[in-house]
Amino acid sequence: MNDKKIILTGDRPTGKLHIGHYFGSLQNRVKLQDEYEQYILIADVQALTDNFNNSDKVRNSIRELVLDYLACGIDPNKSTIYIQSMIPEVAELTVFFSNLVTVSRLQRNPTVKTEIAQKKELFGNDGESITYGFLGYPVSQAADIAIFGAHIVPVGEDQFPMIEQTREIVRKFNSTYGDILVEPEALVGKFPRVKGLDGNAKMGKSLGNAIYLSDTKEEIERKVMNAVTDKTKIRKDDKANPDVCMVGYYHNLFSGDEKEIVFDECRSGSRGCVACKKQLASNINRYLEPIREKRKYYEEHMDLVDEILIKGTKRARSKAKETMKKVKEAMKIDYFKN
Ligand code: TRP
Repeated sequence: MNDKKIILTGDRPTGKLHIGHYFGSLQNRVKLQDEYEQYILIADVQALTDNFNNSDKVRNSIRELVLDYLACGIDPNKSTIYIQSMIPEVAELTVFFSNLVTVSRLQRNPTVKTEIAQKKELFGNDGESITYGFLGYPVSQAADIAIFGAHIVPVGEDQFPMIEQTREIVRKFNSTYGDILVEPEALVGKFPRVKGLDGNAKMGKSLGNAIYLSDTKEEIERKVMNAVTDKTKIRKDDKANPDVCMVGYYHNLFSGDEKEIVFDECRSGSRGCVACKKQLASNINRYLEPIREKRKYYEEHMDLVDEILIKGTKRARSKAKETMKKVKEAMKIDYFKN
């Protein structure tokens, strides 16, 4: 055994990943996999809380997600990628954990609260659409984390309350049954949020403003051509401000030192938007090319992808079983040896 600390991250399989995911977390996971024992969960059970009647979407997104991971440099020999629903022990621990949290505490969870408010707005009712499974997803997320003894969970700010909730449940477990579970820490804040092509603070599929890691060259060119620029620039040689332009914003991410020249020329009016956009599209494409190539390799070897998932899930499950054995002993529900 090694004594590396354990890190757990994951995503709901509901679509392909975009550059927001890349700069926000994937890049970091690629780095962390050397330093930590990293588990990456494909949270299909959690995705179903919102998509219980759309299991095709969840099913079809699983392999897309793994392709994106592998394309970005997640190494299956270093990181364990697994499917949540294939570890029934997680569901089991969720049931035990559900006794350790009150309904009102779940309703006060800020992430859940925001999501409930969004649902009310969307469905125009007073919360009748809130299912037991949805309200309980923080409990299931606590089980995801605790079952692997994760020390660290890197999350975006919106997920911070989930880690807080997990810590509370773990403390409650440990004080009730004995000190066997690890109280995780959130690793928050380091990861910038990438704005959408339309200038929206968030890049997202439902907003239609995302650049996907799997976009083709042509899709990137088309998207960049339609990105929102400084509205005061009407003619090609008008002076403009790259700080209020989405093309300028992405040059920061993709164009290295070149961006200084681009910005100077934009400010002095010697560069038109079309030239600027072409250069950005080409830089994005250059950046994504190795990712695309790797993705293509795995797309052509889907048997390898399946093998990675099967192996990862097997490895993860054996770890989960170890924890559940201890949990059941502590809870005195280990009725028979063997
Ligand atoms: N809630 C996370 C999301 O919406 C996915 C997730 C499920 C997760 N279980 C987790 C993330 C455990 C970190 C740790 O993306």
